[in-house]
Amino acid sequence: MNEKFYVTAPIYYPNADLHMGHAYTTLFCDVLARHARLQGKEAYFLVGTDEHASKVVKAAIAAGMEPQEFVNKQAEKFKTFFTEMEFTNSDFVQTSNQERHWPGAQLIWEKLVANGDIYKKKYSGLYCIGCESFKTEKDLVDGLCPDHNTKPELVEEENYFFRLSKYGNKLKEIIESGAMKIFPETRKNEILSLIADGLEDVSFSRPTKDSRWGIPVPGDPGQTMYVWCDALTNYITYLGYGRDDGLFKKFWPADLHIVGKDILRFHTAIWPAMLISAGLPVPKAVLAHGMITSGGKKMSKTIGNIIDPKEVIKEYGVEALRYLLTREVAPFEDGDLTLERIKEVYNANLANGLGNLTSRIMKMSESYLETPVDLPNYEFPAGYQEDFANYELNKAMDFIWQKIGEADLLITEKKPFSVWKTDQESARVIVIDLIKRLGEIAFLLQPFMPTTADKIVSAIKANKLSEALFLRKE
Ligand code: MSP
Repeated sequence: MNEKFYVTAPIYYPNADLHMGHAYTTLFCDVLARHARLQGKEAYFLVGTDEHASKVVKAAIAAGMEPQEFVNKQAEKFKTFFTEMEFTNSDFVQTSNQERHWPGAQLIWEKLVANGDIYKKKYSGLYCIGCESFKTEKDLVDGLCPDHNTKPELVEEENYFFRLSKYGNKLKEIIESGAMKIFPETRKNEILSLIADGLEDVSFSRPTKDSRWGIPVPGDPGQTMYVWCDALTNYITYLGYGRDDGLFKKFWPADLHIVGKDILRFHTAIWPAMLISAGLPVPKAVLAHGMITSGGKKMSKTIGNIIDPKEVIKEYGVEALRYLLTREVAPFEDGDLTLERIKEVYNANLANGLGNLTSRIMKMSESYLETPVDLPNYEFPAGYQEDFANYELNKAMDFIWQKIGEADLLITEKKPFSVWKTDQESARVIVIDLIKRLGEIAFLLQPFMPTTADKIVSAIKANKLSEALFLRKE
C-alpha cells in the first residue's frame, strides 16, 4: 500500500471574498500535496468553508439572503477560485452540510460529555465577533481586540464549557515528545509558554436563541455548538468520522494541519485536547505560517493596501501568483507584497529568468536538433528535498532558480550559437545538455507551477515552443 499524506488547510469564513492570505495557506497545502503525489504517496488535501459564524449570518442578512443560500453561493465562488488556482484539494468542506459534517461533530461532542469534559455554567465575558472567540482583559490592547481593532461585546449567558484546563500536562507532553510537532520552533515555544501559564476552560456553546444558525448540542436543542468546536471537527467529519469510517481509518491522524499563526492556539491546544478527550489520535504536526502584509502593514480595506489575488491573476496569470506566494514569501515570517514588487520580480525572475531561458534553449534546439531530446527519469535532489522536509518552500524555489542561473551562465560561457558556426556537433552537445537541464527545472517546478512545467515538457517533446512563457510587463 502507498504511503499516505493527509494535509489540511483551515476552513474559511465565507462572510467575505477570499483574499491573498487564504490563497497563500491553501497554496501551501497544494504544493505539499502535489509534491507527495509525485513521490507516489497517496495524498488527501482538505479545505472548505466555516459557515456557522455569527459574522456569516450578519453578511447573509446584509445580502438579503437566508444563511444557507448565502453560504452555498459563497462556497461555489470559493470552489471556482480554487479551480482557477489549480488547487488539487480532494474534497470541499461545508460545515452546514447536515449529512456529511454534523453527525461527526455531534459524535465527538458526545464523547467529550462521556469523558466528563463538558459542563454548564453561567458566564459573562468579552466576545470578539471578528475572532469568534471570548477575550480576556490581557488579550486586549486599550480595550480593543488587537487583530480587529474593535471593542468586544459583553456577553452574559449560560453555556457549556470544555475542560481544557485539565489537558495542560498532556498537551505539554505530546508537544515536547514530538508526538504532535509544531513548526516553526518559535511558535512551539509560544504554545508551550501559553500552556505553562495555565489553560482556561473554553465556552463551547451559545444559547440557541442568539445563534439559531449552527449545530444543535446533542440532547439540548436550547444550545448551539460554538463555531470553533464545530469547525475544528471538519478535519475528521469529512473523512467520514461518525458516519462511514473508511477514509477516516485510512488518513487520520493528519500528517499536517497548515494554519496562519493567528489561529495556532485553536489547533495546538483546543483541538488536540478534544481529540485526547474523545480517545482519538492527535495530528502529527501543525505548521503556522506568517501573515501576508503589504507595505509593511496588514492588508486592510481601511488602509487601502489590499492586493486582490484575482487582480494579480488577471494581470500576470495564475502561475505567476503561485510563484510569488511560494518564492517571494518566507513561510515563517510575515511576507510583504506590493504591486511594485510583484512587477519587479515578475519581470526579473519569470519573464527574464525562466521565460527567457526556456525560449533561448528551445530556439537553439529547434534550429540545431532534428529530433526531440529524450529526457531522463529525474529524481528530486537532496537539497530540494531537505527544503521540503523543513517546509521552506521559498528555499526549494531558490534551488530551482539557482539551476536557472546555472543554465543561463552555461549559455553565456559556452556560446553554443557561436560554436554552431564552426562546429555543429559540439554545439549540439551543448544544446542537448541545456535541454536536459531545462527538463530538470520543469521537473522540479511541478509542485509549484504545474502548468508551466507541463508547457516546458511539451515544448521539449515537440522540439518547439509554441508560445513564449512569461511576457515582460512594462
Ligand atoms: N474559520 C477559521 C478557521 C477554522 S479552521 C478549523 C478562520 N478563518 S479565516 O477565514 O479567518 O482565516 C483562515 C486562514 O487565513 C487563517 O489561517 C489565517 O491565518 C489566514 N489568513 C488570514 N489573513 C491572512 C494574511 N493576511 N496572511 C496570511 N494568512 C492569513 O480563521
